[in-house]
Amino acid sequence: MKLNLKIWRQKDAKSKGQMVDYPISGIEGDMSFLEMMDVLNEELITKGEEPVEFDHDCREGICGSCSLQINGEPHGPDRRITTCQLHMRKFKDGDTIVIEPFRATAFPVIKDLIVDRSAFDRIQQAGGFISVNTSGNTVDANAIPINKHIADEAMDSATCIGCGACVAACKNASAMLFTSAKVSQFALLPQGQVEAIDRVHHMVRQMDLEGFGNCTNTGACEVECPKGISLENIARMNREFFKANLKG
Ligand code: SF4
Ligand code: FES
Repeated sequence: MKLNLKIWRQKDAKSKGQMVDYPISGIEGDMSFLEMMDVLNEELITKGEEPVEFDHDCREGICGSCSLQINGEPHGPDRRITTCQLHMRKFKDGDTIVIEPFRATAFPVIKDLIVDRSAFDRIQQAGGFISVNTSGNTVDANAIPINKHIADEAMDSATCIGCGACVAACKNASAMLFTSAKVSQFALLPQGQVEAIDRVHHMVRQMDLEGFGNCTNTGACEVECPKGISLENIARMNREFFKANLKG
């Protein structure tokens, strides 16, 4: 395939960025999107030009590092996959592909296609944990009976990989889907009850402090989420928040 890539280039956080055209050829349908980017970068390096910076690590849909806005969609045109799992067979010979970083005030561009998603880390640090008794008398988690349906729901929430596609897809750049998944994975389980009130208060407050927008129920986040995190998590977090306000 021959393709015309239009890629956002930005020297650093302070510089103004711009779209740059890169014609590329010899791309096969079996290549992943990131392998296609590798081919481009090898060509740029061979020509003595600066390669395009982009985030990646596991390249198998686990780590949440890869984060490209492809033709206006976070993680591209396929569903329930990350950018590293997207294959070039989704595109046709002669296509133009527009590649940008995730856009949100709370995700400032560091360079080219890399954004700073440490706002998510700070939300997680604000309450996305449980305290356990490490005195030697710790109860084995498997010894606490949990309804299978509840355990499955908690596991579904826990599959969020923190990629940020939900924020990039949202017209308000809201982080509600991410934060609600992190609140839900504990709210559903007995181990999460001890800090439940503080957790939801602290995580929602941090989310607002980071500059993410509010949720207006458009559902774009759920559509673009590579892990199928459901809007039900947002409803659950809102219930947890109201409950915490009544109790705390
Ligand atoms: S909720 Fe989905 S889109 Fe948002 S960070 Fe988690 S995995 Fe990514
Ligand atoms: S590189 Fe890890 S999820 Fe894409």
